[in-house]
Amino acid sequence: MRLKDKYISIRNKPEAILATNFYNFETLRAEMEAASQLKKPLILQLTQSSIDYMGLENAVSMGKSALKYYGVEGWIHLDHGGSVELVKKCIEAGFDSVMFDGSELPLEQNIELTREVVKMAAKSDICVEAELGFIAKLGQSSENTEHTTAEEAKTFAEETKVDALAIAIGTAHGFYKKEPKLNLTRLAEIKAATDIALVLHGGSGVPHEAVKKAVQLGIKKLNVATEIKNAFMMTLKNLLSNNEEIDLRKVFPPAIQVVKELVEGKLMLV
Ligand code: 13P
Repeated sequence: MRLKDKYISIRNKPEAILATNFYNFETLRAEMEAASQLKKPLILQLTQSSIDYMGLENAVSMGKSALKYYGVEGWIHLDHGGSVELVKKCIEAGFDSVMFDGSELPLEQNIELTREVVKMAAKSDICVEAELGFIAKLGQSSENTEHTTAEEAKTFAEETKVDALAIAIGTAHGFYKKEPKLNLTRLAEIKAATDIALVLHGGSGVPHEAVKKAVQLGIKKLNVATEIKNAFMMTLKNLLSNNEEIDLRKVFPPAIQVVKELVEGKLMLV
């Protein structure tokens, strides 16, 4: 099923799809084992940095063959595409879904470029996500930021015809300095005003109860990245201190297991 049809199929249900970023074979394997074990669908996300690290065609084929191998319903998605050129390359490489992130551009330009991407993606019949409002990226401050309004989201959705929209309701990328407070009232207003799939970015570190409420109120895609990197690297660091093992096939599995358990926990929230 195309991702856009999947979003439509869960539109009126209190359900969402988890979207996890993968960085290498090991994190991909952990995510696939979790989704396969819980028989849940999964969106596999790649950022520009991960594409640069693994190679575009290589990363896509890794993701696609893993979905097939593990029998998981899933899609390959470009996370935070920063240019129309990158989006074009990803569409040509076989992505099922692309995000164009024009959230830091003036609104008119965000709308114009998102429309261009929607037109381009329609030719390959794939899904488009955009971002409206400020969701702090790594290293940016999330203090005193304004939240997306229902009116803005409605206008943006009508003008661009995107399938999915990342909204600013109190989350930020990376770890939080203090517990995030989600603007659930605003989420409910945006849900009532639009019929597109609403996306919660910055899923790492959001308390599980808050995520569950957000899903009940209309979030259809939950993004998690930082916790995955952190779980993998912290486990490896601990394993490698005072350890002479050089067989990486013995060193990686405990870190894969920790990421698998983390992803299972997130899958249970959606
Ligand atoms: P975190 O890294 O905070 O989990 O955010 C992930 C995300 O939103 C990717 O777009």
